[in-house]
This record gives sequence, structure tokens and C-alpha cells, in this order.
Amino acid sequence: MADNYKKHLIRAHKAIGVIDSGVGGLTVVREISRLMPSESIIYFGDTARMPYGPRPYEEVRRFAFEMIDFLQHQEIKMVVVACNSATAAGLSSYQKACEHPVLGVIEPGVRAALAHSSSGRIGVIGTVGTINSSAYEKKLREQNGGLHLVSKACPLFVLLVENNLVDTPEAKKVAHEYLDPLVGENIDSLILGCTHYPLMSDLIQEVVGPSVKLINSAEEIAAEVQSILNKSDMSNPLTTDNPRYRFFVSGSPESFEEVGSKLLDQDIKAYQVKLA
Ligand code: DGL
Repeated sequence: MADNYKKHLIRAHKAIGVIDSGVGGLTVVREISRLMPSESIIYFGDTARMPYGPRPYEEVRRFAFEMIDFLQHQEIKMVVVACNSATAAGLSSYQKACEHPVLGVIEPGVRAALAHSSSGRIGVIGTVGTINSSAYEKKLREQNGGLHLVSKACPLFVLLVENNLVDTPEAKKVAHEYLDPLVGENIDSLILGCTHYPLMSDLIQEVVGPSVKLINSAEEIAAEVQSILNKSDMSNPLTTDNPRYRFFVSGSPESFEEVGSKLLDQDIKAYQVKLA
């Protein structure tokens, strides 16, 4: 086998690194594994320090750097920042510091919203950190200054998902409180700008009605990962390989394994790693 081809195979065989504040980034893992079943994934969930949403940006950036540093000591070829709050806090600084391509969730979500919206009236929901950073709005406006944008922080949504309360009357009430004003603005697309929101998309869709298209940033970033791997010739060509999934968490592995196994529809094992 020629040396160059061997080197290419070794690189392509490496894993996609995925980081998130906790379990929510598994929505991104799920989409990547659906789209690219032969790719391996190494995941870090900072469960001991989640939620990131209410934390100062500087702190979120430091935490993200610690996870990226950990992943860079593993066999990875790319880093996906699955967390919207961590992407909003400092994607460009991770990109500058990391030896691998680093992708965030915001730009793919923005592209998809622009592609789907015909009226240019777009809603964005996310954590307090993501919404206060205006990261989605800035990117959307860079592409089209004439958009009508409505943003709303929905901090209780993460708690509803974490505590398995999505199918309750209280959750519906909270969803109406957050989302009715956006519907009143006649949006035609709604960006789910938080890892947890795809896990309650049925309720969100019910509340905003069928005419509003939900933009799931997990699906969008998986498509982006695929496109970058293909363009840079880094996709794993060994389709008969068994993909390896490895999960690391900073908090208790047990609750992560329980939620993660349900979400990914397979038994997963997580290992606890203390950061910093
Ligand atoms: N992962 C976070 C995000 O996407 C949501 C949970 C948190 O606040 O840590 O913004």
C-alpha cells in the first residue's frame, strides 16, 4: 500500500470529537450516526458543570477549551461543538487554538433557516447565553439585512427535558408562554438553537402550529460534518468497520448512560473524567 494512501486511511479512520455541556449533544451524535454510520465518535459531556446557558461567556469558553484539550489527546480528526451556548461564547477562539477543524452549531442552523424561510420572518430560541450573545441574529443579518427576526430565551425548556417533564400540562403552558409571542410575529421558521430542544420538538411544533418550519440544528450540523469530511477527503472509507463510540463525562456516568442509551437506542457506557 502506498505510504500516502496509508496515511490517508489512518487519518480518515480517526473519530469525530463532539463536545457539549451535558447529554443534549447526543442529539447531534444521533444525527451524525444516522448520516455517517461508519464514522467513530468520541464524546465529552461536561455534566458536572451543566447548564452552560446561564454562565458568563468567559467561563463557558474556558470549559469548552478544557474539553477540546482532552479530545485533542484522543485519536480525533475534527471537533464538533454541539453546544449552542459554547458555540456562541467563542467558536472562533476554539478554531484558532485547535489543530483540527472545529465546527459550531450556529452557522449550519442559520443556513438552513435562510434556505427554508420564504417570508424572511424567522424566530430563534435558545438559552439565555445564546440569545443574549445575538450570535444567531448577527449571522442571519450578515446574510440578509432585511430579515424580521424574533428571539426568545427559553431557559425552562432545558429543565423540562432534563427532568423528563416534556409530556406534562405544565410544559405545554410554559411552551405557550415562550412561543405565542413569536407566533404572533408571523414567523415561518423557528431555529431550535439549543441541544435540548429537538427532544421536545413535538410539543414545540404543536404550539407554533404546522405552518412554522422547525430548524433542528442537530440535523444541520450533521450534514455540515459530512460535507466537510467529504471535501477534505477525511470520511472513513471503511464502511464495513464497526464504528467506535466512546463517551466521557465530568459528572456521574450512570445518569448519562441511562438517558444516552434511550436517546441513541443502544446501551452506552460512559467514563468519568475530572477536568481542570
Ligand atoms: N447545551 C446547551 C446549549 O445547546 C444547553 C444546556 C446548557 O445550558 O448547558 O445551549
